[in-house]
Amino acid sequence: MSTTLALLHPGDMGAALGACLVAQGHRVVWVPTGRSPATRARAEASGLEAAASLPQALAAVHVVISVCPPHGALTLAEQVASHGFRGVYVDANAVAPDTARRIGATLGTGGNVHYVDGGIIGPPPQRPGTTRLYLAGAAASEVAELFGDGALDAIVLHGEPGTASALKMCYAAYTKGLTALLANIRALANHEGVAADLLAEWQRSQPEATSRSQAIESQARKAWRWHGEMDEIARTFQQAGLPGGFHEAAAEIYRRLEAFKDIPPPAALADIEAALLAGPHSGVAS
Ligand SMILES: NC(=O)c1ccc[n+]([C@@H]2O[C@H](COP(=O)([O-])OP(=O)(O)OC[C@H]3O[C@@H](n4cnc5c(N)ncnc54)[C@H](OP(=O)(O)O)[C@@H]3O)[C@@H](O)[C@H]2O)c1
Repeated sequence: MSTTLALLHPGDMGAALGACLVAQGHRVVWVPTGRSPATRARAEASGLEAAASLPQALAAVHVVISVCPPHGALTLAEQVASHGFRGVYVDANAVAPDTARRIGATLGTGGNVHYVDGGIIGPPPQRPGTTRLYLAGAAASEVAELFGDGALDAIVLHGEPGTASALKMCYAAYTKGLTALLANIRALANHEGVAADLLAEWQRSQPEATSRSQAIESQARKAWRWHGEMDEIARTFQQAGLPGGFHEAAAEIYRRLEAFKDIPPPAALADIEAALLAGPHSGVAS
């Protein structure tokens, strides 16, 4: 059955999710207020309809899906709650389980809002088999059904809201944490004058490490968004009584690369190393 949803906001991932929903016959609205021309272009290309304002969008929809930078997820939920939204609210962002539960509390779950915690793993979906949206919460099955048999695999987890976010934190702790660690190692090797020797040793004993350490070249443009995700992961470890320092450091590594946001990928590894070695918040990008 066709539903009207709001997609907040159509970034790379949000626009792709919106396109999946449109392909399933749903109507998807978005809110241009405060958003960049890039977001507008993605929304239009994905077949989303612009609403005049957030309150007007909320009045027209039964489901809201939040897909935004992790550091904006709680504020966005507060904005939606302040307009008295009634319906299903899906937070699909990379946040700590504790943040996910705070988002649920902000929305007043159990009353007018049915809160579903989500976590996305994989690239913006263009074809089946690449990307999963994990969902947890009483209305999770209802949300999963909206995506039908399209390009996004929606998977319902057994567990309270916070479960899907926990899975996303564990997954990204490894992938994005490793990307940050290897970038930092490359910068250190450069600083100490052993870069060529390290690559030669990796070639002998860790053949996958060189190419893995170059992942940062295509990912540096996302560093402005990833440091918030690393903060969320660090907190997730700490709240479990585990050391969170690995990902506090990863957050600092990505903070130092914030200046690569608007630089077309791939960035040069030499520029990335220079930004890391230049110190806190002083990205050097050419
Ligand atoms: N991209 C991926 O491959 C991927 C994979 C897995 C999960 N995800 C998850 O998807 C979420 C968003 O990723 P994305 O790739 O769509 O990001 P993105 O391409 O950077 O887009 C972010 C969107 O949110 C808007 N935005 C910027 N700052 C905001 C704020 N403070 N509060 C609310 N909205 C804000 C942006 O609008 P403007 O254009 O105006 O800045 C843009 O529309 C994240 O939680 C991420 O973990 C993404």
